[in-house]
Amino acid sequence: MPMKPKLVEAFNIQIQAEFQSAYTYLGMAGWFTENNLPGFSQWMRIQWQEETLHAMKLHDFLHSRGESVTLRPLTAPSKKYTSSVQVFEQVRKHEQSITASINDLYELAFKEKDLPSQIVLQWFINEQVEEEALVMEIIERLKLVGSDGPSVYLLDRQMSSRTMPVDVSAT
Ligand code: FEO
Repeated sequence: MPMKPKLVEAFNIQIQAEFQSAYTYLGMAGWFTENNLPGFSQWMRIQWQEETLHAMKLHDFLHSRGESVTLRPLTAPSKKYTSSVQVFEQVRKHEQSITASINDLYELAFKEKDLPSQIVLQWFINEQVEEEALVMEIIERLKLVGSDGPSVYLLDRQMSSRTMPVDVSAT
């Protein structure tokens, strides 16, 4: 069954938002590298990959429904950060806006009675809960270690151990 044009448009906007997230986190990865925090940089690179997979999940879903994907332009990420906490505060703000857009998209799919869209979006709703919780935890840890060099070093090493979760796939 074809999707309503309004819903296809909203999915395309969400694809752009997910690719924009990826691009933003790649910018942050660069900032961490340039500020001698390779573990945080690695964490952000994983986040970049995850967001790319999120975008591709929606991208492939539209194609599987026989709909058209229209890729939109991205904006250059900022690199004007003053501290690691400030970077992650930005991540939190960004993820909250993504949660709001996913929720709006789900509401539209519900209104349009598009059941396959609702099912695919439920995965994203759960993912957003996990992402926001993870980012909050990192902010708390960063605040705890403050500017204590050895603690920052250890935290950076912990951050480098992040790998891609196995349940995230573009299919
Ligand atoms: Fe794909 Fe972090 O939202």
